[in-house]
Amino acid sequence: MNDPIRVGLAGLGTVGGGVAKVLHDQARALSWRAGRDIRITAVSARDARKDRVVDLAHVPFEADALALAERDDVDVVVELVGGEEGIARALVERALRGRKHVVTANKALLARHGGALAALAERHGVGLKFEAAICGGIPIVKALREGLISYDLSAVRGILNGTCNFILTQMEATRQPFAEVLAEAQRLGYAEADPTLDIGGGDTAHKLTLLTSLAFGTAPDLDGVRLTGIDRIAPADIAFAGEFGYRIKLLGVARRTPNGIEQLVNPAMVPASTPLADVESSFNAVAADAGEAGPFFFQGRGAGRGPTASAVVADLVDVARGALGPAFGRPAAELSTPRRESAEARMSAYYLRFQVLDVPGVMAEISRHLANELVSIESMIQRGRAPGEPVAIVMITHEAQHVAVLRALQAIGASGRVVEQPCMIPMEAA
Ligand SMILES: NC(=O)c1ccc[n+]([C@@H]2O[C@H](COP(=O)([O-])OP(=O)(O)OC[C@H]3O[C@@H](n4cnc5c(N)ncnc54)[C@H](OP(=O)(O)O)[C@@H]3O)[C@@H](O)[C@H]2O)c1
Repeated sequence: MNDPIRVGLAGLGTVGGGVAKVLHDQARALSWRAGRDIRITAVSARDARKDRVVDLAHVPFEADALALAERDDVDVVVELVGGEEGIARALVERALRGRKHVVTANKALLARHGGALAALAERHGVGLKFEAAICGGIPIVKALREGLISYDLSAVRGILNGTCNFILTQMEATRQPFAEVLAEAQRLGYAEADPTLDIGGGDTAHKLTLLTSLAFGTAPDLDGVRLTGIDRIAPADIAFAGEFGYRIKLLGVARRTPNGIEQLVNPAMVPASTPLADVESSFNAVAADAGEAGPFFFQGRGAGRGPTASAVVADLVDVARGALGPAFGRPAAELSTPRRESAEARMSAYYLRFQVLDVPGVMAEISRHLANELVSIESMIQRGRAPGEPVAIVMITHEAQHVAVLRALQAIGASGRVVEQPCMIPMEAA
C-alpha cells in the first residue's frame, strides 16, 4: 500500500471533531477506498485542553493554526475554523503556497475569495476541495463538477439553509408569527443566538455563489446576489400560499437569462406539486434544471456533525487518491466573469398582500396603481368584511417587470388606506 496521507486538522468543533471521529472509527474502510491510510499528524484549535469527541492526546497540538501549513509531516490541511477572513483565510493561503492540499467547509471564505484561492491552488499544483461547504452531506459539489458535466444547465435552485426551512415549516404547522418561531428555534438549537446570517439570507447567498460557479463556470460573485430574508413573512402569507397551491420557501436561485446570470436569494412561492415544496424542517435540497435531460433533484441533511464530516472525509479520500482537478471544474483562468442580470430586466409573477382599511374605493385605488405600471392580476382573494378595520387583499400577478411592481407598491404603500408596507413574494415557476 502507498504511504499514508498526512492531515493537519485546524478546528476541532462540530465539524472538525466529527472528521477526527470518522477518520478514527472508519480507518480501515477509508484506507481501502483511498488506497492508503489517512492519518491525522497535527491538530489546532483555540483550547488545547478541551475534551474532544475522540482522544487526540497523542497528536501534536499547534497553538498557532498557521504552523500546520509549515509542518513537513502534513500533506493536506483541513480548515474547519470558519470565517471569511482572519485565521481561516491566512491558513488556506499559506497552505496552498506551501504546496499542501486544502479541504475546507468554509462557504463564507470561498464565496468571497474562491476565485483567487482556486488560482493559487493551481499555481502550486495542489487540490482545493469544498464538498462540505454547500448543503453539508449532499454531494452536490461532486455532482455539479463531475456527474452532470455534459449537461448545459439552465438553472439551479435550492433550499440551502436549514434554519430558515425549519422556521418556515414551523410557521406553517403552528401558525405562530416569525419572532415566536425564531425564539423556539433558538431554544431548540436550530438557530444561532445571532441568527442574522441565516434569516437575512447571507448564508444561503454564500452557498448559492458556489453553486452558480459550479453550474455555469463563472467566478464566485457574492456581490452579484440579490438578497431578501424571511423576517417579513407573516403566518397569513403562508396560509394564503396554501390556498393558491404553493408553499413559501427561502430559495437560492441561479439561472441563465438572455441578459446574464441571475443570482437571487429570497422567499419564493413554490408550487406545492414540486419536490422542492416537500422539503421539510431543517433538510436542504438542490434542483438542477438540465432541459430535456433533467430535472435532477438532491435532498439531504445540510448541516450537523455527521453529514458535514462525511463530506469532508469524502474530499480527503479524493485527495488521497490523487483525484484533484480544478476547484470549480475548470481552470481558474477559464472561469468567466458573470454578467449580472439587471433588476430592471427581471420578469416574474408575484404574490402581493395588502393590509387595507375596509372602505369603499380601496380596491380600485390598488388596481389603478398596478395598471399604471402595466401589472395585470391573475387571481385575487379578499376575505371577510370589517367596515373601517384592516383586512387583507391578496393577489397573484401575471409576469411583470420587477421594477414596475416595486414602483406600483411604493405608490400603493403611500395611500392613507393601506395600513402596512405591502408584501411581495415572487412566484417560482413549476
Ligand atoms: N456546523 C455545521 O453543521 C457546518 C455545516 C457546513 C459547513 N460548516 C462550516 O464548517 C466550519 C466549522 O464549523 P463548526 O460548526 O465546526 O464550528 P465550531 O463548532 O465553532 O468549531 C470551530 C473550531 O475552530 C477552532 N478555532 C477557533 N478559532 C481558532 C483559531 N484562531 N485557531 C485555531 N482554531 C480555532 C475552535 O477551537 P475550540 O474548540 O478550542 O474553541 C473550534 O474547534 C465553518 O466554516 C462552517 O461554516 C459547518
